[in-house]
Amino acid sequence: MAKKAKTAYVCTECGAEYPRWGGQCTACGEWNVIKEVRLGSDTKHSSGKIGYAGVQSEVKLLSNVDLAQAERISTGLVEFDRVLGGGIVRGSVVLIGGAPGAGKSTILLQVIAKVASSGFSVLYVSGEESLQQIAERAHRLGLDAGTIKMLAETSVQRISDCVDVEKPDVLIIDSIQVMHTVDSDSAPGSVSQVRESASYLTQYAKQNNVSIFVVGHVTKDQSLAGPMTLSHIVDAQVVLSTTDDARYRVLRSDKNRFGSVGELGFFAMGSAGLKEVKNPSAMFLSRSDKPSSGSVVTVLWEGTRPLLVEIQALVTESQYGNPRRLAVGLDQNRLAMLLAVLSRHAGVFTANDEIYANVVGGIKVTETASDLAILVGVVSSLKDRVVPQEFVIFGEIGLNGEIRPVANGYARLNEAAKHGFKKAIIPKANAPKMLVKGLSISAVSTVSEALDAINDF
Ligand code: TYD
Ligand code: MG
Repeated sequence: MAKKAKTAYVCTECGAEYPRWGGQCTACGEWNVIKEVRLGSDTKHSSGKIGYAGVQSEVKLLSNVDLAQAERISTGLVEFDRVLGGGIVRGSVVLIGGAPGAGKSTILLQVIAKVASSGFSVLYVSGEESLQQIAERAHRLGLDAGTIKMLAETSVQRISDCVDVEKPDVLIIDSIQVMHTVDSDSAPGSVSQVRESASYLTQYAKQNNVSIFVVGHVTKDQSLAGPMTLSHIVDAQVVLSTTDDARYRVLRSDKNRFGSVGELGFFAMGSAGLKEVKNPSAMFLSRSDKPSSGSVVTVLWEGTRPLLVEIQALVTESQYGNPRRLAVGLDQNRLAMLLAVLSRHAGVFTANDEIYANVVGGIKVTETASDLAILVGVVSSLKDRVVPQEFVIFGEIGLNGEIRPVANGYARLNEAAKHGFKKAIIPKANAPKMLVKGLSISAVSTVSEALDAINDF
């Protein structure tokens, strides 16, 4: 008797699973997103070669586990390595997402060309573009096409047959949405196909110690298309996105079993493909020569390094009864809280004003270290008084108007000094014991002290 295929009902938006079909996903609230998914048969698990990197699994004491670092392959692109946590880990699966045209295929082609030139074997599987298109791109990018093996294929099983023969160290799958596997009989790109293909490839990577990069498209809201479950399957998930300035691309790690999340890598797209941006602070600080009110520079901490960004605030008198508060790149609720602190503890009232706050360059601020800079920006715009361009300001603000310390204060100050800033207003608890060359520091403990400090400098 034929074994009945197992099925599940999965939300195509968030990946929630249900025992039966329903019109609305109760997890994410979307309508008409629950699809029937055929789960693959278990037969593929019966091969004797299971475990990690082809090694038979056994129970061990944690203390007996070899502490040798995971073996990594450097890509030669420092920014790319950084986002992966220090290079490509052997046998890992990395999902690289991004909107069409972000440069996923371009960056991966550049990466494998570098990896191949250091003696590793690589295989690029394209299911989207023809080999001619990729050859033309490689030619345009000036890459050594003699070391890169290519395959145009969409069947996961045929790919793994090929990989068995070629034995590459690094494999690129471009893209997961066009791959299909015999384990699932629904159409390519469907939830079930994407999921089954990804889990087949992941299992293959672990058993054979092949590092795989899987390309995935993202939807308009920047989440990866298809099931969210994809991110549970892979070891790391990185997203390549464009900034406000269309030339630049930011690679961000959203999940990483081998490194930190939130790590950013910066690239510029040019005629020779993607080039690393060695000094990202400079990229976000292309300020006009004429200083204007409402503009303040702060130092963010992104992943493992500091980043200087400009925060702009605009305060205008409201024409209507209900003034707008709009934050771009910042948390709207945080802005509301800061305005409340400002009125209660510094006597600056903005209840009748419209307030807009923006982070220049399209970076999203997720930490509280920018609090003080936002407040100073609002006050600067409200009073139409310019904060001189030599100032850099950071610090978290508490509900009592106190200024709290932030992590990595000294490294932030150094970054500011490196970029020619002369004066810093920072939390008292972050006041450095050592001097920071070229920077005079005012350490403050309340919002009103901070506002006075700008005038006193
Ligand atoms: P691509 O890598 O095809 O994007 P994805 O695979 O993410 O869809 O990127 C293509 C974009 O990059 C396209 O809009 C053209 C641009 N580009 C350059 O500007 N310079 C170059 O050297 C290359 C190869 C592409
Ligand atoms: Mg592509």
